[in-house]
Amino acid sequence: MSVQAIIGVQWGDEGKGKIVDILSEDKDVIARYAGGANAGHTVVVADQEYVLHLIPSGILRKGKICVIGNGVVLDPDAFLTEIEILGEKGIEVDGSLFISQKAHLIMPYHKQLDKASESGETIGVKIGTTGRGIGPAYSDKASRLGIRVADLLKPDYLKTRVEHAAEIKNTVLKQYYGQKPLDTAQIVEQYLGYAEKLKGFIADCGPLVRKAIQDGKKVLAEGAQGTMLDIDHGTYPFVTSSNASISGVCSGLGIPPKDISNILGIMKAYTTRVGEGPLPTELNDKVGKQLREHGGEFGATTGRPRRCGWLDGVVGRFSVAINGMDTIALTKLDVLDHFAELKICIGYRIDGVVHNEMPDDTDLVARAEPVYENHRGWMSKTAGMDKYDQLPDEAKRYVDRVEEVVGTSVSIISTGQARDSVIVR
Ligand code: GDP
Ligand code: IMO
Ligand code: MG
Repeated sequence: MSVQAIIGVQWGDEGKGKIVDILSEDKDVIARYAGGANAGHTVVVADQEYVLHLIPSGILRKGKICVIGNGVVLDPDAFLTEIEILGEKGIEVDGSLFISQKAHLIMPYHKQLDKASESGETIGVKIGTTGRGIGPAYSDKASRLGIRVADLLKPDYLKTRVEHAAEIKNTVLKQYYGQKPLDTAQIVEQYLGYAEKLKGFIADCGPLVRKAIQDGKKVLAEGAQGTMLDIDHGTYPFVTSSNASISGVCSGLGIPPKDISNILGIMKAYTTRVGEGPLPTELNDKVGKQLREHGGEFGATTGRPRRCGWLDGVVGRFSVAINGMDTIALTKLDVLDHFAELKICIGYRIDGVVHNEMPDDTDLVARAEPVYENHRGWMSKTAGMDKYDQLPDEAKRYVDRVEEVVGTSVSIISTGQARDSVIVR
């Protein structure tokens, strides 16, 4: 196997970090291909909890090469803080962590503009972003105003680029948001300071990953966010600003599609979402609250409570189809241990008509009423189980039905935060 791609099926926080950590054991290279410090991937090893935002979750295993690909937007401050926190927990990154020269940098004005646009004082839609500068940074990338990691090593060029960008940003900051102009000299100095600290990590990551593949090494592409947050295929405009789905793997690492030999979707056994936007199976009742409590559904990056609801099979089917998922890892099955009755959404009723497929128009998704089928819960403990045969019959039936509804197999079932709380079928 050359490249295994890990993709979130829903709206992020499916448990990608935990599954990446498990699958990293026999991989050589673990690479992030999209997103930035908006991601929060939690991995629990023994009694220690790690939350990775930018650095691939594979860093927790010794002897692995970890890559931050060109498709990622890198916040140098968040990156350095993450290294420091890992260091305090005994994880060293030197010699095993590389950042692509082509990755774009999050600049202070990206975070400023992200927060300003979400402040509520402006016209436009509130997305409920993480405030990490993601949208403005990807916008600059697309409009050729972006500053890349390679530019950090060219002080004169960096200065010209910052000055050029600042001229445009200042107009928006001043005239639209009534904020002070940027101090470009201070920004250049700050980023030259980062250059010193980052230079040991900067590499030509496209060639690095391609050579690893050619040499027969095993590569794991670690997705961030989820398919329903993908800028093209998610519930636009309530999405992130990158391709969180399969296409992001090739563009975000610089590898050909033919080298991807396995596509694994990570799907939570129920649904969560952070931020604004449609969520057809959302439960604003006691059950939703219980899912949040039993599932510990609070954002790993912002601490916001996650919106919770039953499993949405329309979302699952859509994700499997557009990503070509070979198989699924179904996570947090143990959270359902507490419910006597479970529901799976198998269709959307929109204006009286039942749709089995995800509509392209977000307004229709926002109006969708879930068509549910009921399942008996197992009301016993699956938490910590590591063998399929141990599962109660109701849980096995739930898994079987999930496979039928989404249209692919469930090859991994996760039953807890710990590394060994997992069933591999
Ligand atoms: P990611 O962004 O997809 O990596 O997911 P997050 O780390 O943001 O959120 C998933 C949360 O669920 C984390 O706190 C994980 O430790 C936890 N988790 C992952 N798998 C399981 C599981 O099977 N059961 C339970 N109870 N928790 C899990
Ligand atoms: P992981 O990798 C869940 C959501 C935000 C917001 C929208 C846009 O941990 O699964 P952004 O800051 O990206 O411009 O915000 O996307 N979002 C996530 N939700 N998990 C994530 O990452 C997310 N990254 C972004 O809450 O609704
Ligand atoms: Mg997360």
